[in-house]
Amino acid sequence: MTTASAPGKIILLGEHAVVYGRPALAVPVRQIRATAVVQNPADPTRQNIFIQAKNLGASYWLDEAEAQDPLARITSLALEKIGPAENYPLDIVVESTIPMAAGLGSGAAVSVALSAALGQHFQQPFSPQELSDLAYEVEKIHHGTPSGIDNTVIAFDQPVFYVKASPPETLKLGDRFTFVIADSGIDSSTAIAVGRVRQGWQSNQERFEKHFDQIGDLTRRGRVFIENGDRHNLGELMNENHALLNQIGVGLPQLDELVISARSAGALGAKLSGAGMGGNCIALVEPETAVAVEKAMRAAGAVWSTRTEVEA
Ligand code: PMV
Repeated sequence: MTTASAPGKIILLGEHAVVYGRPALAVPVRQIRATAVVQNPADPTRQNIFIQAKNLGASYWLDEAEAQDPLARITSLALEKIGPAENYPLDIVVESTIPMAAGLGSGAAVSVALSAALGQHFQQPFSPQELSDLAYEVEKIHHGTPSGIDNTVIAFDQPVFYVKASPPETLKLGDRFTFVIADSGIDSSTAIAVGRVRQGWQSNQERFEKHFDQIGDLTRRGRVFIENGDRHNLGELMNENHALLNQIGVGLPQLDELVISARSAGALGAKLSGAGMGGNCIALVEPETAVAVEKAMRAAGAVWSTRTEVEA
């Protein structure tokens, strides 16, 4: 029996603009995880693969799954890389503590955990880049033009400065950063949010390109603050980034409420994180204000929250 797991993630700066070639910063969130267990079935004469997705309450045979089923797709892709797929009798169980449709990387984490477990099971462990590439193929099912940031930060399990189609740069943090993560409970569809931004860009390229440049620019400055351990300035940039995400049309009043409540309770900065139009908000806090900020975000409507410490 082989078990592997992968973390959730948050995007600190740069979402959406990253789809248009600007950089983004993301960090893993290790206390929420997807886990995959792979084992040989009790009946060794069996010829097929059984997949159980515990969170979805679903189970099915690989060869009967829909072509676009993410678990079936990642299983097939990983097994193709390992060797011929059809002769492996396997039992696969996947579960996750990462809230779904919340911009926390649950889809990419499941893909990475499952391909890592398959690689290890067949004594052909994949490198972080290979895991990232495999998961990227499945990200394409979720929306057509993924930047690749989710699969990258999750497969490398390190803070990353990411530019589409370039090798990721992992970051050394100058200090420990504490974040509160609060899920609005409103489902965030990456495909819909990315589509909305695309529409806006098509109808007013000049304005959107300007906003993407502003986001790219603050992300580059944010990298320096992260590397220098400068919480106050990073917080300011998160606030600016939130305003720009509203400008490009992925904000919601409920997300503003979470962000405002966090700032009023002492956060150094707060923003929506991920695709937006729902999903989660993150707040950068001093460790001593973390509890108060989390409470305030709950009172402002968050249905789920956690605190995470990020260090190099
Ligand atoms: O999967 P989410 O909700 O974290 O969104 C990913 C970030 C986007 O920039 C909105 C899309 C992408 O492919 O980078």
